[in-house]
Amino acid sequence: MKKIISVCKGDGIGPEVVDEGLKILNIINNYTEFEFEFRGAPAGGAVWKEHGESLPKKSFETIKNSDALLFGAIGIPGLPQGVAEIAILKIRQDLDLYVNLRPIKLYDALRDRCPLKEEYIGDGIDIYFVRENTEGLYKNIGYLKDDEAENIMRYTRKGCERIIKYAFEFAKRKKHTKITSVDKANILKPSQLWRNIFHEIRSEYSDIQAEDIYVDAFCQWLIRTPYAYQTVVTGNMFGDIISDEGAFLIGSLGMASSGNIHPGKVSMYEPIHGSAPDIAGKGIANPIGTILSVKLMMQESFNNQELGNEIEYAIEEALKEGRTEDIKHPNLKTLSTKEMGDQISENLKIRLKK
Ligand code: NAD
Ligand code: IPM
Ligand code: MN
Repeated sequence: MKKIISVCKGDGIGPEVVDEGLKILNIINNYTEFEFEFRGAPAGGAVWKEHGESLPKKSFETIKNSDALLFGAIGIPGLPQGVAEIAILKIRQDLDLYVNLRPIKLYDALRDRCPLKEEYIGDGIDIYFVRENTEGLYKNIGYLKDDEAENIMRYTRKGCERIIKYAFEFAKRKKHTKITSVDKANILKPSQLWRNIFHEIRSEYSDIQAEDIYVDAFCQWLIRTPYAYQTVVTGNMFGDIISDEGAFLIGSLGMASSGNIHPGKVSMYEPIHGSAPDIAGKGIANPIGTILSVKLMMQESFNNQELGNEIEYAIEEALKEGRTEDIKHPNLKTLSTKEMGDQISENLKIRLKK
């Protein structure tokens, strides 16, 4: 089965973690019926410095004509704010990737790295954030003047309906018994529209318990009862923030993956972290968020659940052997980015050979 994968490594630790994601894709290429062709699609801060734009037309065309995009991270300190990062928003907007799926799962092997006490971890953490990815504050680039600045939070019925429906269908597929909508309907008009639509749609899914929580309170519930959440659907800005909070609950920002998805169309897979300039070039970044993004690509774009599960087992096994700096354990080897990727690759190879 031939698939074209466009690849944007980006800035900072982007290239370091994407190289480990590519190792996994190459193993899949060698040991399964998939045949991947990789096409480079440079974007980000370094590209902006050279060409004055962070997403050249050629890169976007390459992405548009591929089956999926593997993306690292972009951003370089010292550049004007946003010039690099805008490339991500362009890809999300122009490909209409309205779903940002962000799994937050605490692996048993990493319980020691969860910052919460055992009583708060309870039965464990296994949450799927479904973040609206094309509207709200992110749609309107706004303006900045010397003495005022503005972004407008605008949501449409169409925008709310499609993401909330996706979330209910996703919850159904995962056999979740509960879905949580996070908003700020006590003050923001777009959240009131969101909540009305959430209530309309939930009446079509009587098997799934549906609850609303205000975003400020949710930030404390996420720490207080993280085991209580399954599918969590929310708007663009809130989703950006609460998913980074979630990521640290599972050990590190480096552990969290994401899919920017338009079901049935070319979608983009990336770790949720940024270019991490504080550790870039040191070879210590955690590549697991990127490798889990490859897992999501297999499951959500290439419709292969089993292969995705194999990648996840390979990661869980590897975490018992050694770990990168950010999730290190005194009794286990501390691994470089490459060594972590190699360990996972070896495990996957063995699993796929069987
Ligand atoms: P960041 O996510 O890059 O880093 C935050 C902290 O998490 C840092 O201490 C970093 O070292 C750590 N971290 C992140 N990823 C890690 C990994 N894989 N392994 C180990 N530790 C990891 O956030 P920031 O510092 O606020 O942003 C840096 C740049 O990245 C900015 O330019 C920002 O705009 C950009 N950014 C890009 C993306 C993206 O490309 N998708 C996402 C977020 C931020
Ligand atoms: C993310 C990032 C992006 C966002 C930025 C870099 C545009 O923080 O993917 O989480 O805000 O969505
Ligand atoms: Mn973010």
